[in-house]
Amino acid sequence: MSIVNVVQALIACLGDDVVEYGEQIADRRHADWSGLPAAVPLALLRPRTTQQVSQALAICHQHRQPVVVQGGLSGLAGGACTQAGDIALSLERMNQIEEVDDISGTMTVQAGVTLQTVQERAHGVDMMFPLDLGARGSCTIGGNLGSNAGGNRVIKYGMAREQVLDLEAVLADGSIIGDRRKMVKNNTGFDLKNLLIGSEGTLGVITRAVLRLRPQPASVATAWCGLADYEAVTVLLRTAQQRLSAGVSAFEVMWPGYYDYVLSRVQGLRPPLASRHAYYVLLESVGGDIQQHQAEFQRLLEECLEDGVIENAALASSASDALDFWKVRDAPAEFPVLMPNLIAFDVSFSIREIGQAARDCAHRLNMRWPDSTVLVYGHLGDGNLHVIVNVPEASEVAAAEVDEMVYSLVKEYKGSVSAEHGIGLKKKMVLGHTRSLADLNAMCAIKRALDPHCILNRGKTLPDELLS
Ligand code: LAC
Ligand code: ZN
Repeated sequence: MSIVNVVQALIACLGDDVVEYGEQIADRRHADWSGLPAAVPLALLRPRTTQQVSQALAICHQHRQPVVVQGGLSGLAGGACTQAGDIALSLERMNQIEEVDDISGTMTVQAGVTLQTVQERAHGVDMMFPLDLGARGSCTIGGNLGSNAGGNRVIKYGMAREQVLDLEAVLADGSIIGDRRKMVKNNTGFDLKNLLIGSEGTLGVITRAVLRLRPQPASVATAWCGLADYEAVTVLLRTAQQRLSAGVSAFEVMWPGYYDYVLSRVQGLRPPLASRHAYYVLLESVGGDIQQHQAEFQRLLEECLEDGVIENAALASSASDALDFWKVRDAPAEFPVLMPNLIAFDVSFSIREIGQAARDCAHRLNMRWPDSTVLVYGHLGDGNLHVIVNVPEASEVAAAEVDEMVYSLVKEYKGSVSAEHGIGLKKKMVLGHTRSLADLNAMCAIKRALDPHCILNRGKTLPDELLS
């Protein structure tokens, strides 16, 4: 087969160890977990060093060649899917932990290391890397940062961007920015690190990061609570934040439709409480002093029960109890098998309005499709809901109508069309529901300045009509 010029130039510079093309490209997945289609790329680049990433991008820039950067391919918005004619750039060989500094509280890593490897290494030096999400075993730090991932412990520790002190990245023309410094305070002009974090591969390729570690908490307290109404959920959240000196590390809420569905369909789950309620909360707090922290947590639950904020509660008496509670929350991993045509949303609202917004959303969907399944759960402490919709007609037209219904509601409530999964290809069309035209124009101006030939993740995240 004939090799296009750009591939020839890449092979001449980097060798066929780094550059695979045509039939040589291994039989592998080119799409992420969004369910969107992907094409076999023109070539697959698997560099071993930042220098090689820089050389590769300089060549692609010169040839106006589109490039899609890929991590663990566990994204849910289509940001890593390749389209015909793209070159895929995988960071899978740059997967080393370069340094752990337990005095500075940092870990310097290459972008292709998995989240779980980082978590385990931190644990090994009695520290913690707090970012945590279901895909921990396959997602990589580069992808976590590119998409500014969220997860279950954002309420205490923040999103992915809060876990980084510095990073190294390669811009579209091959220039390398960032210097891997290990300080929290570095107030020296524009924060390029935070510009790249969450830019979903459109502004540069993150190659290394200095991650921020936290002390490993000695005490973990976990409870499963049943509540009667949404107001009680907000009172529990506020009370827990006020009374627990260590704060709240997770506040996951599940609506009864979700709870009944997972307990009847997903294998291996144990109901944390025998009683049924209008809302279920998985409350977790992590603290430094075991006795004081556990006593405070227990007192909080007792008071909330006495005051009628909670109808019933189960306190985890072991790590295995806590794991059982988390299994009920993590059951959505099984949803794609149980509902192959599901339509999933990752949206956010002000905490005040979530109860009403969720009710309104389910009502509108049920009016239109009386036999639809609508499951609601999420990281309520962060205003983040996941809504899973399954309508009887499994057609593209029906899916588009569901999208329209849910995203219009998000717009009405002044919520966000993406709380934690990002925009990618999936939510590009509704980005304007949450970001103003002036915002979008500013984003496009930055994109044009850093990637003038628009080679990085073309057609993703930003509206095409404003870029051209
Ligand atoms: C969750 C993922 C899907 O919270 O964001 O289950
Ligand atoms: Zn989530």
